[in-house]
Amino acid sequence: MRVLVLGASGQIGRELESRLERSPYQIQCPPRSALDIRDPHALNSFVSEHRPQICINAAAYTDVAAAERDPEGCFDVNCKGAGQVAEVAAFVGMPLIHISTDYVFDGLTSRPYREEDPTNPLNVYGASKLAGELEVQRRCREHLLIRTSWVFSRWRRNFVKTIVERAFSHPELPVVDDEIGGPTSAGDLAEAIVGLINLRGARREIPWGLYHCSNGGSASRFDLAERAVSRVRERAGEAAIARLQRVSTESRSSELERPAYSVLDQARIQRQFGIRLRPWTDAVDEVVDSLLTDRLLDGPS
Ligand SMILES: NC(=O)c1ccc[n+]([C@@H]2O[C@H](COP(=O)([O-])OP(=O)(O)OC[C@H]3O[C@@H](n4cnc5c(N)ncnc54)[C@H](OP(=O)(O)O)[C@@H]3O)[C@@H](O)[C@H]2O)c1
Repeated sequence: MRVLVLGASGQIGRELESRLERSPYQIQCPPRSALDIRDPHALNSFVSEHRPQICINAAAYTDVAAAERDPEGCFDVNCKGAGQVAEVAAFVGMPLIHISTDYVFDGLTSRPYREEDPTNPLNVYGASKLAGELEVQRRCREHLLIRTSWVFSRWRRNFVKTIVERAFSHPELPVVDDEIGGPTSAGDLAEAIVGLINLRGARREIPWGLYHCSNGGSASRFDLAERAVSRVRERAGEAAIARLQRVSTESRSSELERPAYSVLDQARIQRQFGIRLRPWTDAVDEVVDSLLTDRLLDGPS
């Protein structure tokens, strides 16, 4: 089976690529310079030349703060681009696995969000991703729409990586303790997606639709930072100088609104596919260890 990964240089994309390289599938990972999802001609010609049989769209405009200043640019990728991918997928009969976000919700609840709960994004990024979901649902029947949250990995910029870096350089680290979510390892999510691709490879019937998927458990940003720093301290001892300070979202000057609570209920993906990711704490430890290995190889900074 030929598998197309869009956004292969991103956190989830890189984890997908490394796993699919070890699979029996033929993997296609065009960089943005070769296939920009905003360009329908590039999409059409790539698909007609390479004839992928399933597509994972992990390409997105993910800079949540920049999106507030550039709503058009953000919607171009996350809504229009996503819609174009879905259109091409439907046209050639290629199922689409599309990644979306917990930021489609407003966070005004205190129990994990189910797939059917009403959406109400608070920021431009969330609104663009919701619009992209609707495009996918409208244009491509054979889709798996997977909402995930608080993604971390050793790649690109992400919360856990920033905390690990600052643990060595900042004596004080203020972290909000009133934003609650479901931390998700890009690697664990990629593993789950490969499981879904395998079902297609084995020609199994797939219940298409919308699913939530993140690591087990929930955390505040503070909890997540605390776990990462304590793992750093276990491994690097005195070299880790950071002390964490609890702060509230209100005390920060950012104008960007984020949901205060965005934990995703995992029951549907567990029931339909038997997918249950390990607790986020174990996944954080693993990513911190791999970041530290790189750091030690690079020498002290
Ligand atoms: N990060 C999170 O916390 C989080 C949380 C929930 C959901 N998600 C969703 O998960 C998915 C993957 O996120 P991620 O964190 O892995 O993203 P990421 O690391 O920021 O990577 C984004 C990827 O999209 C590519 N891309 C951006 N614009 C493109 C365009 N116009 N055409 C083609 N490719 C383009 C980037 O290419 P370049 O390398 O050229 O920039 C990169 O490969 C996204 O749908 C995101 O909305 C992420």
